[in-house]
Amino acid sequence: MSVKWDTPDYRDSSGLYIPISVESLRTGAADDFDVYLRTGSDYFLIKPKGSSISDVNLNKYAERTPYLYIRTTDQDPFFKRVDKYIDDVITSDKVPLRQKAALLSDKAVDIVDKIFADPSHPEHLKAAHRVTQNFLSFVAQDRHAFLHLVDLSINDHYTYAHSVGVAAYCLATALAAGYQGEQVVNIGVAGLLHDIGKSQIDPAIINKKGPLDEREWGEMKKHPQLGGELLRAHKNIPDIVIVCTESHHENNLGTGYPRGLIASKLDPMVGIVSISDTFSALTTKRSYSHPRDSLSALKLMKENIKAKFDQELFMKFVKLFLAEEKKAG
Ligand SMILES: [Fe+2]
Ligand SMILES: [Fe+2]
Repeated sequence: MSVKWDTPDYRDSSGLYIPISVESLRTGAADDFDVYLRTGSDYFLIKPKGSSISDVNLNKYAERTPYLYIRTTDQDPFFKRVDKYIDDVITSDKVPLRQKAALLSDKAVDIVDKIFADPSHPEHLKAAHRVTQNFLSFVAQDRHAFLHLVDLSINDHYTYAHSVGVAAYCLATALAAGYQGEQVVNIGVAGLLHDIGKSQIDPAIINKKGPLDEREWGEMKKHPQLGGELLRAHKNIPDIVIVCTESHHENNLGTGYPRGLIASKLDPMVGIVSISDTFSALTTKRSYSHPRDSLSALKLMKENIKAKFDQELFMKFVKLFLAEEKKAG
């Protein structure tokens, strides 16, 4: 069912296993499933179905790897089981933020995976909305909770890490900018789905290790419009989600694509997705380049591309991170 993305160290090339982060297994998510440890291309059964893994053992595995594996045939039953208790885990005050974030991220990755494999399936879009509501309830719990969603163990897969990261930044920025309720959820959904059009582009272009040539770049630039078309084919997708998807590569100077719209033609919510997208693209690991750290990415955005964004909004975005730095120091 999965699109064949370039997935070094993350997806099993045989397609028989999928990764689940060790942290989310602490929530008991895998009790009804076999769990495997991967060593190179070999998988070892470390926990049979019907038993649980102790925290002590999970700590041991966590030292070796950020994720363990379940069988791909268990993917749907596993996440259906997660659906039953994810609300309780997210709202519990006994579960650490890190575990909540891991479970949310695994769930969001499952949805992004399904959406990219079949963007026409209405259930997948509904699931994206539901998980974004969970994201929001999580992000609203703590000022810096969004950073846990971004600091994910599952970071070897650019499309997944990027989609989850952009959704998290969008929600935190929307809250900082004073948006409320369903508007915030819509911005988060737009963050999760903004690159959905890439599902229609040749994986050889998407996965290319290095700069694209002119023809490839021309193809790549079609993804916002293709994404808009995919979303328009669904009922009940709010207009703003479609607009953000179509316009996330536009900018205030009118030098973006596909339409070269200027600031006055852009919905302010688009700016939230654009800033989040740019920042995530700079800070997420790709197979061919090292990610920047948050501060150097913000510096680069401030020095080189600030004029492309709404200044007030950009400063709100910057403050999300400066507060974190102070806290860490
Ligand atoms: Fe994009
Ligand atoms: Fe993107």
